[in-house]
Amino acid sequence: MTHPTVPESSLYDPFDTVVQDNPYPAYARLRAEHPVYWTAASNTWVLSRHADVEAALLDPGTYSSASGIFPTPAGMEMTELFLPMMIMTDPPRHSQLRALVSKGFTARRIASMEPVVTAIATELVQGFVQAGACDLVAELAGPLPAMVIADLLGVPREDRAQFRQWSSLLVQADPVRDQASAGLAAAASLYDYFKGFIAQRHKEPRNDLISALVEAKVDGQRLTEEELLGFCLLLLVAGHETTTNLLANSAVILAQHPAARERLARHPELLPGAVEELLRFDSPVQGLSRALTRDVTIHGTTMPAGDTVLLLFGSANRDERIFWAADRFDIDREPEHHLAFGRGIHFCLGAALARLETRVALEVLLRTCPEWEVDEGRSRRLRSGPIRGYLALPMHWSPR
Ligand code: HEM
Repeated sequence: MTHPTVPESSLYDPFDTVVQDNPYPAYARLRAEHPVYWTAASNTWVLSRHADVEAALLDPGTYSSASGIFPTPAGMEMTELFLPMMIMTDPPRHSQLRALVSKGFTARRIASMEPVVTAIATELVQGFVQAGACDLVAELAGPLPAMVIADLLGVPREDRAQFRQWSSLLVQADPVRDQASAGLAAAASLYDYFKGFIAQRHKEPRNDLISALVEAKVDGQRLTEEELLGFCLLLLVAGHETTTNLLANSAVILAQHPAARERLARHPELLPGAVEELLRFDSPVQGLSRALTRDVTIHGTTMPAGDTVLLLFGSANRDERIFWAADRFDIDREPEHHLAFGRGIHFCLGAALARLETRVALEVLLRTCPEWEVDEGRSRRLRSGPIRGYLALPMHWSPR
């Protein structure tokens, strides 16, 4: 099958560093001129309008997750972790796995974590606030989600330093930068670690997520050991780097919008709404892929069965058809239709936890060093396809 040659075949490529630095002008042109776009650079179709992205997310029978959800540059094989992870399954298996893990991942369990999240964030910020400078990624945005997931899973204190190291290696593994082998080695170590850990919870259940998952049953069926292991790794993969990136992106946006930041420092009760706008305005997950199970025609263009489609959440979240003055950051907007956590059956299981961690971390930063400035020149952007965030984000402020 030959694909249509779009006049400007380089209009959008998720691996182009210019696009990664600022994808929003390219998104605006995609939405206006090529709402169904073929990019040869990544061998994929691209959907960019809110209505099209949302419709695809709500139709998993046509847009399948089973053969992978991360776009790869043309000619590059993705190194996948071969564990059953529900994010890469379709119904009916996905529905069973999701029902099982939802039993452990309850709103009550997440809400009860607020004191722990506050204690971890406060301790991390106290570690650098008097210095008047930090690398936000290394000192807060990276460690916070890793420590929170360790707590959620019930990893004992003495194992946490090791856990954090494996977890960082795993989430920083980038097949495009050839770091996948360190990531796979870390995944193997985590796999062995969790194996022992799960066996122990079978014998001696406690009040933690793993014990709840070991016990959980749907229609008389429990999760297999492989599925439990897959879920532990999925929590790390899906819940660590995403939250790190949201926090880092948020610190940059708030530094660029000092009036909004000052208002939030005086009125922390506005933070939950601001976190939604931060998610919309600069989404950590700008897009994920699906594979077509049948031919689909949209806006007069037919995408054939078997092809992959990149769904651009980051572009959908700037679609003027849904969000008025979409390129403006506005903490009063209440953008309830944003797609930063996806939509439909795969809607982010950790959304409540991510919102909690980000609100609490920003609250602590706004209380202790509310006038931070970002050293843009020394920051390092993440180069991982449509995942938007930083590897390093140096900041400074005047200690009080
Ligand atoms: C799924 C984004 C934090 C666990 C997703 C999806 C998105 C997303 C877009 C949908 C995937 C798809 O449709 O293929 C984010 C963002 C986060 C975040 C932007 C932070 C700001 C977390 C956290 C956890 C988590 C903290 C858990 C500790 C998951 C899981 C899924 C998922 C398990 C798969 C759900 C399923 O397949 O049914 N996330 N996530 N995420 N997320 Fe998150």
